This record gives sequence, C-alpha cells and structure tokens, in this order.
Amino acid sequence: MAPKEIRWGILATGGIARTFTKDLTVDPTTRGVTKVKHVVVAAASSSSKTRAEAFLKECNWPNAKAYGSYEEFVKDPNIDVIYIATPHSHHYQNAMLCLEAGKNVLCEKAFTVNAAQAKKLAEKAREKNLFLMEAVWTRWFPLSIYVREQITSGRIGTVYRVQADLSMADNPDKTYADGKNRMVNLELAGGAQLDLGIYALTWCFQTLYHTQPASERKPPKVQATMKHFSVTGSDESTTVLLTFPRSEKLGGDAHAVAMSSIRVATDPANGIASGPAIRIQGDKGEIQVFPPAFRPVDTRVILSDGTVEDKHWEQPGPGKGSGFYNGFGDTIQPEGVGQGMFWEADEAAVAIFEGRKEGSFLDLAESIVIMETMDEIRKQGGLKYPDKIETLDYPVAL
Ligand SMILES: NC(=O)c1ccc[n+]([C@@H]2O[C@H](COP(=O)([O-])OP(=O)(O)OC[C@H]3O[C@@H](n4cnc5c(N)ncnc54)[C@H](OP(=O)(O)O)[C@@H]3O)[C@@H](O)[C@H]2O)c1
Repeated sequence: MAPKEIRWGILATGGIARTFTKDLTVDPTTRGVTKVKHVVVAAASSSSKTRAEAFLKECNWPNAKAYGSYEEFVKDPNIDVIYIATPHSHHYQNAMLCLEAGKNVLCEKAFTVNAAQAKKLAEKAREKNLFLMEAVWTRWFPLSIYVREQITSGRIGTVYRVQADLSMADNPDKTYADGKNRMVNLELAGGAQLDLGIYALTWCFQTLYHTQPASERKPPKVQATMKHFSVTGSDESTTVLLTFPRSEKLGGDAHAVAMSSIRVATDPANGIASGPAIRIQGDKGEIQVFPPAFRPVDTRVILSDGTVEDKHWEQPGPGKGSGFYNGFGDTIQPEGVGQGMFWEADEAAVAIFEGRKEGSFLDLAESIVIMETMDEIRKQGGLKYPDKIETLDYPVAL
C-alpha cells in the first residue's frame, strides 16, 4: 500500500523549526517507516512573509506556501497538522489558535507555561476531536524504547533510583547579559527548568512512571531548589528530588534526582571523559545513557554479574554522499545523519493516519502530570512568570 501523505504546516521559523523542517525531508523508509510520508505545505512567520519564504527555501521545501501571519496560516485548508515552534510563553495561545481552526497539533516542549494551560488545551483538542501531542522527541527514539524495554523486562531488577541531568555551561553573565534571550527572559518563560529541566524530568518519568501499568501511575512528590539568574530572576540552576509512589508489589517508592543548569555542564568537554547523563539503577544492575539527555546516542547496561553491554544508536538519514546536513545551533551532524526529530513526526503522522488523538509514548495525561510537577518546582523555587503568559484567557496578544 502506498504511504499516506501527511501535510505539515510549520508555525514559526526559528532555530528548532529549521531543524525539524529539514528532518521532514528525510525519506521515512530510511528508518523503516512505510505507513506515512511527510510533506511540508506551508510555513508562517510572525515577522514577515519574506522570512517564511527564505525559511522554506533553506529547509528545501520551495513549493510550500509562505505566510506572514499565524492567523492567516491556520486557515490554510491543505494543512493536516501544525508543528508549533515558538518560545514556550506562546505555546498556549498558538496551540489554541490552531485547535480553534480545526488543526491537529504537535507542540514543542515545554508544552505550556503551567498545568492549567495544558489541561485547557487537552480539553479543546478533545472537544474538537483533534490530535494533540507535546513534542518531546527523545521519547520516540529507538534508544528510549530500548531503555524502557530493559526496565520492563526486569533485566536490571526493580528500579529504585534514577539520576538525570541536562545542563550546559552557557555563562549567562556573558551570553545572556541583556536578559532578552528566551533562555532567561521571563516574558518568554525563560529559565533552565522549562527549557532543559524538562528533559531531566522526561528521563525520570519515562523510566519510573511510564514503565508502570497506566492504572498504577501516581504523580511524584517534589522537593526542589532553584538558583536565580541575577539579571532577570529566571532560574539558572534547578535541582529536584522526586519520590514516585509505587505499590509494594512494584517495589515501593522510587527516588529520582532531576538537574538542569545554564551555569555548569553535564558534559563540559563535549564527549571527552564525562560520565553518563542518566543513571537508572535497579537491584540487579544499571542502565547508563550518555549526554546529551535530549539526543543521546550511547547506552551502557552494567549487570551485577559483570556483564557490560555498550550500544551505539546513530540516527538514521539519507547517508553519505546525499549532501544532507542537519543539526541545532553550533552542532551539525555528519553528512547524511538526521537530527532525529522525524521520529516524533512519524508518531504524529501515523496517529493521524490511524485516527488516534494522542501520542503513544507521551499522552496528554502524562504531559499534564509533568506540567503539574513543574508548577510545584517553580512554586518551591520561587519562580513566577508574568500574568499574561500564565493566563488561561484566549486570545491574548503577546
Ligand atoms: N526539541 C528540541 O530539541 C528543541 C530545541 C530547541 C528549542 N526547543 C523548543 O522550541 C521552542 C522554540 O525554540 P527555538 O530555539 O527555536 O527559539 P527561537 O530560535 O528563538 O525561535 C522562536 C521563533 O518563534 C517565533 N516567535 C513568535 N513570537 C516570538 C517572540 N515574541 N519572541 C521570540 N520568538 C517569537 C519567531 O519566529 P517567526 O518570526 O517566524 O514567527 C522565532 O523565530 C521552545 O519552546 C523551545 O523549548 C526544542
């Protein structure tokens, strides 16, 4: 059977929108996906139509339609699903705009600014019978599926503790001195927790929460501390202790530590001599996942009988000689290697093809529990965002 063509619209033309939209050019059969294929039919920039045109040309979708307004773009009848890639401050307003216009949505992380907004979006998607998913791409990597299977198969015994870190030494005093960048700007929901800490939480949740039967999953208890950036008051470092309640049958409570920072790095010398970013510890062994937590490619399983099993998980792509390059920021992957954002795109496309309204490895209920966890972390850490980005009102011009 010929693959079903899923027609994407891209909302915003910044850094991650570029990476995602380039990954959509990679033929899904290079990763064994045959049910769907992706086509980008439109992109919108809030700044200008010219910017959207340049973006589409650069991302190799020259025939897609460019818009200079999100409001006009969401009315395009050719779009099946919209990928939202604005700062997190804008996700609630942008996702509501798309859902109100009857469009399926894949929305970048952090899903929203707070849990109340996430719940409202979930209600709206249900009311309109639309697909909605938070774009935590790492959850769909074969590496993540393997890690979860190592846990559920019991290979490392019962997991009692997880440590997860996503930190990068960006020296905010220099890099973000004027306080305007979305990483530190409160108006754009800046701070380590919502931008980086979401990945540390993702690893805690996908190992200690998602691996439990759905009926057994309970939200974790939270103890959190934050260090604030002197220029804006956003969090530059956040450390969280989590207690995941589990039945006695499943081993009782499990502990996790989730860390994020823009002052110190998980991996200061980029792969040289740093240890794992994530350690998943059971009573028969542990799984290590090497940095970065958002796009890991190496795992190690160490069992108490002395077994050590290393695996490398290169992202697929069109291969050497293809002239294809992708990456994010200063990190460009070797020729022909995808960034890996296509896995979540495949999930959204297959879900739409099959008539599912939520993601398989991260549904809306779990995104909401994670947002509730982040609300509590911010409360304990003393980080509040401006009312206009915490609001449930819609529409609000930001
Ligand atoms: N999955 C990942 O690996 C990953 C990596 C980085 C970021 N992210 C997430 O993706 C989102 C965007 O991050 P990014 O790094 O791509 O940011 P970025 O480079 O700053 O791009 C954000 C884009 O949003 C649009 N925008 C609309 N209103 C804006 C406003 N008031 N201020 C700034 N931008 C505005 C702009 O596009 P137009 O001018 O075209 O409208 C801008 O280019 C964030 O939620 C972030 O957490 C995910």
